[in-house]
Amino acid sequence: MHSHEDIKITKVASSKIQGMDFSHLPFGKYFTDHMFVAEYSDGKWHSPEIVPYGPICFEPSMATIHYGQSIFEGIKGYRLKDGSPAVFRPFDNHKRFNRSAMRMEMPEVPEEIFIGGMKALLALEENWIPTAYDHSLYIRPFMFATDQVIGVSPSQTYKFMIILSPVGPYYAAPMRIYVEEQFVRAAPGGVGYAKTAGNYAASLHPAAVAKSRGYDQVLWTDAVEHKYVQECGTMNVFFVLGGKLITPGLENGTILEGVTRDSVITVAGDMGLEVEQREISIDELADAYANGMLTEAFGAGTAATIAKIAELRYKDYVMNFDPENQPVADQLKKTLTSIRDGEAPDNRGWMMSVK
Ligand SMILES: Cc1ncc(COP(=O)(O)O)c(C=O)c1O
Repeated sequence: MHSHEDIKITKVASSKIQGMDFSHLPFGKYFTDHMFVAEYSDGKWHSPEIVPYGPICFEPSMATIHYGQSIFEGIKGYRLKDGSPAVFRPFDNHKRFNRSAMRMEMPEVPEEIFIGGMKALLALEENWIPTAYDHSLYIRPFMFATDQVIGVSPSQTYKFMIILSPVGPYYAAPMRIYVEEQFVRAAPGGVGYAKTAGNYAASLHPAAVAKSRGYDQVLWTDAVEHKYVQECGTMNVFFVLGGKLITPGLENGTILEGVTRDSVITVAGDMGLEVEQREISIDELADAYANGMLTEAFGAGTAATIAKIAELRYKDYVMNFDPENQPVADQLKKTLTSIRDGEAPDNRGWMMSVK
């Protein structure tokens, strides 16, 4: 077991923070001074360390590059109104990380490494948390295989790391989304529910095709019939249909179980909204749209928070939503934001204090 004190810390000689322009933060471009690293070998985690952020060295045979045993998480740190740093629901990300690990035949990462490492790193990098609206410190924990052997088998050694990036908003404008009916993100029995590198690699070409057609992202549909909607690039998807909030269910393991998704469902319940998690066919959406029953569409994810959908295209059928008139999305975003910056009471213990 490791406590905070067991983490060896090597600090940078001089911080990069003075040169940072916190009013201009493209997503994921800048990293803080330090990173957390721990090693797995001989069946256990060891050597937790904080070192200056920088390159890591490996041989060309490193297993991750060839066979893709690589998983990650995305979490955000905020500064509360009282000035103290806090992280939004990291324990839920930790659980999801270990579900991803199990599916990819990787070792679980214990709390003292995942959460302990995060706390120690954030304690050192507190000053990097941006304070402007919709800004935060993005926390990226990840693990990858480090065996230097060619051959398809689970690696015996792994590295777990955490890096931090001060970020601004992910999507600047309401999104135009294309309903995908050729490419597939995930099938039942596959790895859709795991936050593993290959899922994102496989999404890049379909996303590029969507972009070439003038769209920001695709909305994935089921692998068998291309009939039921799943999720968007890095967000779960929600609709307001007949006054109810609806979102695809988790039952067949094809979508990522978003922490924001769960937060939206919970907060919507508090707001008195009826929420349904179930199969949603594109035909149902199109019918409801035609009848004026489909009033809002938005994505929900850590990076994007709540991102309104302005246009949803299915084949030649186009559904438009007025971003200025999506009261449910607005209310959800407002409530989540106020919990994250410490203005609203944190009734469910979602904010983890760093100190
Ligand atoms: C594929 C995918 N779906 C959904 C989400 C939203 O999950 P969360 O709210 O936990 O960030 C993400 C982002 O993590 C994602 O990559």
